[in-house]
Amino acid sequence: MANETAIEFVEVFKSFEAQPVLKGLDLWVPQSEITTILGPSGCGKSVTLKHVIGIERADMGKVVVAGYDMERIRHSELIALRKRIGVLFQSSALFDSMTVKENVAFGLRMHTRMTEEEIAERVHVCLDAVRLAGTEARMPVELSGGMRKRAALARAIAMEPDFILYDEPTTGLDPNTSSVVGDYILKLQSELNVTSVVVTHDMPLARRVSDRVALLYEGKAVVQGAMEDVEASGNEIFELFVQGRLG
Ligand SMILES: Nc1ncnc2c1ncn2[C@@H]1O[C@H](COP(=O)(O)OP(=O)(O)O)[C@@H](O)[C@H]1O
Ligand SMILES: [Mg+2]
Repeated sequence: MANETAIEFVEVFKSFEAQPVLKGLDLWVPQSEITTILGPSGCGKSVTLKHVIGIERADMGKVVVAGYDMERIRHSELIALRKRIGVLFQSSALFDSMTVKENVAFGLRMHTRMTEEEIAERVHVCLDAVRLAGTEARMPVELSGGMRKRAALARAIAMEPDFILYDEPTTGLDPNTSSVVGDYILKLQSELNVTSVVVTHDMPLARRVSDRVALLYEGKAVVQGAMEDVEASGNEIFELFVQGRLG
């Protein structure tokens, strides 16, 4: 089933008040791959992710996620779909007033009927996957920035999602920590066989993890395809982006 389209945007338009953000976005995210959405700050990357989880709705065009037309999806189907999507948000990744364990267990308590023992076991497995076993009782403030990101990752995978969405996973992290986050994106991909969407303007990260890449600019994907094809395409806007001269 690999390479089936898991997420598709067809000519999606989205404005806020009078400000158009998406202006005919076409985007394909193949199943079981890592697709990276690149683009300058404010171009609509987070807005695009919000369409995937149904927080925003397109004004025009079509968004299809796991076979569901997001325009027509029923409320109960949307709730079920969201449980299949792990999200690593850009900011406020963890609840500061909860221990690491409670952070990771949050979705499990909300959406499952797992026993206390089952939750503890699942939390342990997820923390172990990001090398944070033993930190269950700690508070987020007691962790380094990199550990907090990893704890947030553990929470994102706790529900055994089919999709993981990463919004700027390395922003604010030093290069070493960023590299570790990249390691985990790859590791989770290979171990969980999820469909991943990484939103970033971190080119080293994009080069490292992406199977596929799309550059969002002025409301459209100006170029998209396999990372090596896009790098070799000579697309002018892509070149400017790589040189840090876009936006
Ligand atoms: N809920 C909203 N209301 C009004 N404007 C918004 C809203 N969400 C996003 N925007 C605007 O849409 C544009 C794209 O935002 P965003 O997707 O967050 O950019 P980025 O690519 O940096 O993630 C920005 O100009 C932002 O101000
Ligand atoms: Mg953003």
